[in-house]
Amino acid sequence: MTKVLMVLSSAAATLTGKEAGWYLPEAAQPYYSFIHAGFHVDFASPEGRDPPVSQKSVEHYKDDESVKFLQDQDVVDKLEKCKKISEVNSSEYDAIFYVGGYGPVVDLADDLQNADLVSAFWQGGKIVSAVCHGPAGLIHGKDSNGKSIFEGKKVTCLSNAEEKEHGFPLKDIGFYLEDKIEELGGKFEKAKGLLECHVVVDGQLYTGQNPASAKPLADRIVQDLKQQ
Ligand SMILES: *[C@@H]1O[C@H](CO)[C@@H](O)[C@H](O)[C@H]1NC(C)=O
Repeated sequence: MTKVLMVLSSAAATLTGKEAGWYLPEAAQPYYSFIHAGFHVDFASPEGRDPPVSQKSVEHYKDDESVKFLQDQDVVDKLEKCKKISEVNSSEYDAIFYVGGYGPVVDLADDLQNADLVSAFWQGGKIVSAVCHGPAGLIHGKDSNGKSIFEGKKVTCLSNAEEKEHGFPLKDIGFYLEDKIEELGGKFEKAKGLLECHVVVDGQLYTGQNPASAKPLADRIVQDLKQQ
């Protein structure tokens, strides 16, 4: 059976104490794409059980998947049993998917065990995917030559323009992901308009720009995993 590991942040607050966490629709919509495809899904986070959801995203998103996700007993059980990143064995999974929210910028970006996990998936030739601020979790991922997994690759994430229009100021989060990806040699791409769907696939690296990109990104992963 195809197995996907979804990674969520454990960071409840930004650097300045504003609400962070993981972003509901970017977990819920991909989760049901994977489940409806017949895949098995597990969750992992730096601190394990019950990673904190962004309450702002809960208030904002009332789509079917987001509403169902919060009430789904399977999901509630899986979040309660959420593995610690340090406990994950990458060889048990076919793909890894990083959910966005401000949390990943705060904790996953500099988590060394997470860096090892990304590198293990990458070097195992598996799909490494992330949406919105999820690519923060990929920053320290390395290929077998020790190079950044972003180097020379087409990639997207929440853009600087979207951060400035809809996000937090730099002092709350420390860095903007678009800048970081370019520093690491990634070829950043984005949609024409703010918050429009944009999915980029380059080899085994799959990224989505923003909340609107979460489901299309997951559907693309489903399509490609089914062909493997
Ligand atoms: C990881 O999983 C693989 C495949 O299920 C298994 O062969 C291996 O022993 C596991 N490694 C560890 C450290 O548990």
